[in-house]
Amino acid sequence: MQLQITPTGSALGAEICDVDLGGYLSDRAIEQLRTAWLKHCVICFRDQTIGDEELVHFSRQIGDLELGPAGEIPQADRALAPKLPEVWIISNVIKNDVPIGSLGSGEAEWHTDMSYVDRPPIASVLHAREIPDVGADTSFANMYEALARLPPDLLERIKGRFANHDSSYTSAGDLRVGATPIVDITRAPGAHHPLILCHPESGRDALFLGRRTNGYILGLPVEESEELLDLLWAECTRDEIVYRHQWRVGDVLMWDNRCVIHRRDEFDPGSRRIMHRTQINARNLRD
Ligand code: SIN
Repeated sequence: MQLQITPTGSALGAEICDVDLGGYLSDRAIEQLRTAWLKHCVICFRDQTIGDEELVHFSRQIGDLELGPAGEIPQADRALAPKLPEVWIISNVIKNDVPIGSLGSGEAEWHTDMSYVDRPPIASVLHAREIPDVGADTSFANMYEALARLPPDLLERIKGRFANHDSSYTSAGDLRVGATPIVDITRAPGAHHPLILCHPESGRDALFLGRRTNGYILGLPVEESEELLDLLWAECTRDEIVYRHQWRVGDVLMWDNRCVIHRRDEFDPGSRRIMHRTQINARNLRD
């Protein structure tokens, strides 16, 4: 069977129709959707009525799974712990005074998922279970394009440089459990990654920034690192290289965490949003 793959028309993203992620997928189908994911960076499957078991089963056909981010809400404090530890809940819903998931209803800043660990996931798979009528769109920026469009002088300034990706705060701006506020970004905990990442599967170079908050380019004076990061972030979030996804219940999005960054719009805290996510293991990030 040949999958129907429809590009979004933006700088990244494609929709794949007629696939039931809860059903049997042949090796050929998995290969086709993997190829589409590598090419379009974000792929969307509509109308998926799957449970967590099927989400995990599908994700495992792409790669091994990571556990979700640590320290956002202690697992024991969750009102609704997922039965499967690989599933991470993103939600603003409060049950018995306790959040059932992470990130609340505010804006989530541009980021790469879990870039504050040495080997971040290569992909995230996000299933929309409940969504608000308005807001909460998720935008994705193409970091191959961001790099390709950098002014030559800016490109020269970042060649060979590494940045620290701070692990203290969530993308919603909350201090993680057990972390302390950062007073000196040169000493922030996290992971070091090259600013220009060679994607191990496509062989293409992409800008790899993680997130802006507490980012620091190693070896530079703080003022120079801040100035350079501000310039880079302005370049990589231009509308021309962004795809904005308006969610429908049942959507499953899978993105390539090595060559896209994403952010989420805020939404009415009085409405409900429940998303279930898996994270696919890092492979050869630095190879
Ligand atoms: C995330 O994975 O960062 C969350 C995106 C979203 O809530 O849409």
